Amino acid sequence: MSDKAILEINGQKYEFPTFKGSENEVAIDISTLRSVTGGVTTIDPGFKNTGSCKSEITFLDGEKGILRYRGYSIEELADKADFLEVTYLLIFGELPSKEQLDKFHSDIKSETIVDDDIRKILDAFPKSAHPMGVLSSLTSALTAFNPTNDQVSNIDYERTREALYNNIVKVLGKIPVLVAWTLRKKNGLPLDYGDSSLGYVENILKMMFNKPNEVYVQNQVVVNALNKLLILHADHEQNCSTSTVRIVGSSHAGLFASISAGISALWGPLHGGANQAVLEMLEAIKEDGGDTKKYMAKAKDKSDPFRLMGFGHRVYKNFDPRAKIIKVAADEVLKDLGVEDPILDIAKGLENEALTDPYFVDRKLYPNVDFYSGIIYRAMGIPVEMFTAMFALGRLPGWIGQWKEMRFRNEPIGRPRQIYTGSTYRPFKSVSK
Ligand code: ACO
Repeated sequence: MSDKAILEINGQKYEFPTFKGSENEVAIDISTLRSVTGGVTTIDPGFKNTGSCKSEITFLDGEKGILRYRGYSIEELADKADFLEVTYLLIFGELPSKEQLDKFHSDIKSETIVDDDIRKILDAFPKSAHPMGVLSSLTSALTAFNPTNDQVSNIDYERTREALYNNIVKVLGKIPVLVAWTLRKKNGLPLDYGDSSLGYVENILKMMFNKPNEVYVQNQVVVNALNKLLILHADHEQNCSTSTVRIVGSSHAGLFASISAGISALWGPLHGGANQAVLEMLEAIKEDGGDTKKYMAKAKDKSDPFRLMGFGHRVYKNFDPRAKIIKVAADEVLKDLGVEDPILDIAKGLENEALTDPYFVDRKLYPNVDFYSGIIYRAMGIPVEMFTAMFALGRLPGWIGQWKEMRFRNEPIGRPRQIYTGSTYRPFKSVSK
């Protein structure tokens, strides 16, 4: 294949270099397009075919259903890794040694304490507030209590690395506390820090569910399930929330502010909010008598805004490897916990119908990561409204790793072009003068 791409506009030919990634993906480098053509640009709503950056973090092949973090397959990581190991891998590029992992965990633990005034802000939210709104606000508020110095300085990389490391362990230490406290507040439980002698994932669960005057008993099935879910959500290259984090950070806004923006982007039902939307949809189908065919018909009817939530993906056009793992885990977790959930059968029924339905087959619509995750969260005792906040906890390493990569490469500020389609010039006439 030629390493050049040729574009012809009005009979004039222009050459552009191509770039090949380590998995042989080819991109056309159009960074000189405007200057050589005298102002021609590209248009690609939703960035369906636009690469925004080069990245060494996550590889995915949507046609083959492959997902790898720093070269390691999602199947192996979900089966064998610890979430904190994966976190370290995504942020720092290599798996940690035992010493590095222990130090990382102890640095995170030393940063869990949240300022008392943050408690007051949490108290000021109504109980009905959505956890994602609370979490995004509190994450942004952390900036005020941790005056950040994570601006990447081209002059003093070492000092910057140290300041950034401190903020990374703060994010990983404090955000789980904020998620757990949001749940505790909803449940009318006093806020506490769990038990710092526990593992990272174990303590998230203890902080969420520990009750006063009751002995907290750790359930290993639940710990393993959460560990797996967090790993499966840890990064997914340039998705909506990660692109948001990178673009906010590209203005040199700090890490807390960028992650707060990522949390807001994740909230929407077309992205991370799908896990809540799926469960609500499955419940509604159950309440309506369990007629999956009726809802399949609604999803296919273009005059009906209903979509089959948890189905379809921008990049996976064969299957979502995370969904495969989660489907098996849902069966195992429900069995191990002795939970019988009729909506699991409704979910499987919908999937089976979709797999042979020409509408879904032709459009390559398969269950995504969020189709079965909510069923596991619910079996673990996590309320539906908290599902997307759990996703945010899993996505923290990805957001941090991608933010760090973007800043240390000194990427330019994100600023797309547009094609203006509004009025041409018209003279102004005031109604007040
Ligand atoms: N139900 C019914 N039809 C669908 C669905 C669905 N869930 N998803 C896509 N389609 C149809 C579209 O109507 C469109 O049909 P058309 O070609 O006849 O117009 C076609 O499939 C392509 O869909 P687009 O919306 O163009 O695909 P896009 O890549 O823009 O959207 C998205 C991907 C947002 C994930 C979409 O499939 C969707 O809305 N799914 C449901 C929400 C969801 O589960 N989101 C979570 C994604 S995973 C994650 O972010 C963690």
